[in-house]
Amino acid sequence: MEPLNNNNRGFSSNLGAILAATGGAIGLGNIWRFPYTVGENGGSAFILMYIFFVFLLGVPVMMSEIIIGRRSQKNVMGAFKMLAPKQKGWMGMGVLSLVAALIIYSFYSVVAGWTLNYVILSSSGELVGKNPTEISQLFVNFTQTSFWPLFHQFIFLVLTASIVILGVQKGIERYTKILMPILLILMILMCIRSLTLDGARQGIDFLFKPDFSKITGDSVLEALGQALFSLSIGMGALITYGSYIRKEDNLFTTSLWIAGADTFIAILAGISIFPAVFAFGLSPAAGPSLVFEVLPNVFNSMPGGRLFSVVFFVLLSIAALTSTISLLEVLVLWAVEELHWSRRKAAILSSLLVFIIGAFCALSFGPLSDVKLFGHTIFDFCDTLTATYMMPIGALFFTLFIGWYLPKAEVYDELSNSGQLKARYFKIFYFIIRYIAPLALLNVLLTGILS
Ligand code: PHE
Repeated sequence: MEPLNNNNRGFSSNLGAILAATGGAIGLGNIWRFPYTVGENGGSAFILMYIFFVFLLGVPVMMSEIIIGRRSQKNVMGAFKMLAPKQKGWMGMGVLSLVAALIIYSFYSVVAGWTLNYVILSSSGELVGKNPTEISQLFVNFTQTSFWPLFHQFIFLVLTASIVILGVQKGIERYTKILMPILLILMILMCIRSLTLDGARQGIDFLFKPDFSKITGDSVLEALGQALFSLSIGMGALITYGSYIRKEDNLFTTSLWIAGADTFIAILAGISIFPAVFAFGLSPAAGPSLVFEVLPNVFNSMPGGRLFSVVFFVLLSIAALTSTISLLEVLVLWAVEELHWSRRKAAILSSLLVFIIGAFCALSFGPLSDVKLFGHTIFDFCDTLTATYMMPIGALFFTLFIGWYLPKAEVYDELSNSGQLKARYFKIFYFIIRYIAPLALLNVLLTGILS
């Protein structure tokens, strides 16, 4: 079949698009944030709710966001300018996306920097032979200092920018295609080791035996926030990548693949971590430090653990990298298309801005730990502001845009590739986007704001 868009704007194949978007979706959100959020919210019932949100809301909302990108073939601002030329208000969604990308990248790169530090710690053997208390202490000592977290964060921003500068096919697509399969194999090996630890049972129960009494209004909000965060929904990353998806690719199957792979990796991360948490008598509710304090103990208990830990932290960095690439690309494509900057200038200036905000996030674990915004540390504030509020708001308006603003025929045209695909699910999709998704998102948002 002749490709419908021959402008070479974006990804070279459907596989490339799926892997790049999945790479953007799978990241610290799955391996670092998912486990600790599950831990803080009592385990399995939270996971069920999470999965429900991913497939009932996540997939249709993801499709809506991708439609905005692919239909317009533009960046987050340009897309609304083009699809809603007469209603300038929609451009507010472009602004929200840019701000969210900036803030998410700022705190995300802090943790990405930690992963780099753990690559070094594990390869130099510094984690070997330490007991769980010493390992926790090591983490606290590191994150409380000023220089090293900033240094590693900076290196991470440079790495990301260098790939983004190379462009969509030669940079983003090429690297994610190599890195994602390796990540999967390693995750599976980690699960096997964790499941065969003495005392793994309790962790498995925690993950898979639902206890609905643990669900509160807050945890519903967190489950939705986590689903959106993990799928990168509601802040324009999918508009940006959507604009690179070829006109002949099927958006429904593409979205299902992304959501399925993302959820699978999150569950694998849970299986790698919780049995070990319980086996070593640690608390599942440790928060953001969970992965860094728990996994080194697992490595210490396994043959070849040191090698394994290096590989694991390298891969964690890689998972983070494919996500930071997608975050930076939101800002870069906007600056390239709207401000007519070169990719290089756009990537460098955006990264510098991220570094400035990110430094405050990094230091909020140490020298700035007393600074509180609405009761949160700076890092926590940025995380909560984006995942719990901005992304649900973004998702709400993207669905309203597709469900109520864009003419139905245009939406169908995009999903059926101008009539070349059957899109039999269209009625259900449209019903969810018009009614269910906006009501559910609004409900969860209001609960969060009023509570
Ligand atoms: N989804 C990414 C993760 O799980 C985080 C992310 C959010 C990336 C928003 C891009 C945009 O790690």
